[in-house]
Amino acid sequence: MIDISADISGVHFDSCIMNASGPLDTTLEELTDIATSSAGGIVMKSCTVEVREGNPEPRYVDVEWGSINSMGLPNLGYKYYNEITPKLKSYGKPLIASIAGAESQEYKKIVESFNTSNVDILEINLSCPNVVGRPQIGYDFEMSEEIMGVVGDVSDKPWGVKLPPYFDFVHFEEMASILNNSKISFIVSINSIGNALFIDWETEKVLIKPKGGFGGLGGKYIKPTALANVRKFHELLDKSIKIVGVGGVYSGIDAFEFILSGATLLQLGTSFAQEGPQIFERVTRELKAIMEKKGYKSLEDFRGKLKVMN
Ligand code: SIN
Repeated sequence: MIDISADISGVHFDSCIMNASGPLDTTLEELTDIATSSAGGIVMKSCTVEVREGNPEPRYVDVEWGSINSMGLPNLGYKYYNEITPKLKSYGKPLIASIAGAESQEYKKIVESFNTSNVDILEINLSCPNVVGRPQIGYDFEMSEEIMGVVGDVSDKPWGVKLPPYFDFVHFEEMASILNNSKISFIVSINSIGNALFIDWETEKVLIKPKGGFGGLGGKYIKPTALANVRKFHELLDKSIKIVGVGGVYSGIDAFEFILSGATLLQLGTSFAQEGPQIFERVTRELKAIMEKKGYKSLEDFRGKLKVMN
C-alpha cells in the first residue's frame, strides 16, 4: 500500500496533491468540483475584505508551456468564503482559506473572521503580482514581517504564507530568517513569476489587457524556479516549517521532483486550469507508480533527499 498522505500542524491530508489558490476556486460550484475530485484538500480563491471584480478581460491566456494571467484577485469577499465553509467541510477534506490584502489591518480583519469558522488552515497570500499600483508584499521584507506579526498575534488556526519566487541567495536568507522567527506552520512556494510579457507577433499585440500586457507566468516555464525555491527554503527553514510546492506540476514526475526537493504538499495551478479536476487522480496515479517502481512506501522515504554532486 503506497501512502502519499501528509500533515501540517495536526491537519491530515490523505493525499499531498491539491489545487493552488487561483484558478477555478472562486465560487461554491467550482470549489465543490475540487471537493468531489481526488484532490487531498480544498484551497479557496484568495479573498479580500471587499468583493473584487478584478482586472479587465482578457486576463488569463494559455500559452505553449503554461499561462499568463493578470486576474487582479477577483473574489466574492471574505464573508462569502466564511459562509460556504460548512458546505465544503461536509466533504471531509482539509479546507484552506487564502487571504489577500493591501496592509496588515485587512489581513487581521479576515484572519479574525476565519477563527470562528471551520476552515482548517489559513494561507496568507503575500505575492499577488497583478493588483495595479500595488507591489508584491513578499518583496518588501519589512511589510512581510509586519503582516506575519499581526497574523501570528490573532490567528487561532495554523497558518502560512504564499511567497513570490526569489532569485538571489541573499534574498532567500533574509526571508528565511523572518520566517524562522515567525509563527508560521508552512510556506507555499511559489506564486506565478510576476510581470512576464507575451506577444502575438502576427497582430503585434500583447495577449492580455491589464497592465499593458504584463502578467504572472505559470506552468511549465516556472518549474525550475519553483524547484529552486522549494529546495533553498528546505535548506534554510526550521524543519518544523513545512513547504507546499507550486509551479509547473503537470505529472507524477514533477510531483516526485518537488517532494525530493523538500516539499510536503503540492498545489496545481495552471495545470489544473488546463486539465480540470481529473488531473488530481492522474498525477496521484503517476506519483504512486513512480514510488512503487522505486520501492518507496511513503513520502518520508524520499522527501528532501535530493542528491548533489561532490
Ligand atoms: C490573481 O488573482 O491576480 C492571481 C492570484 C495571485 O497571483 O495570487
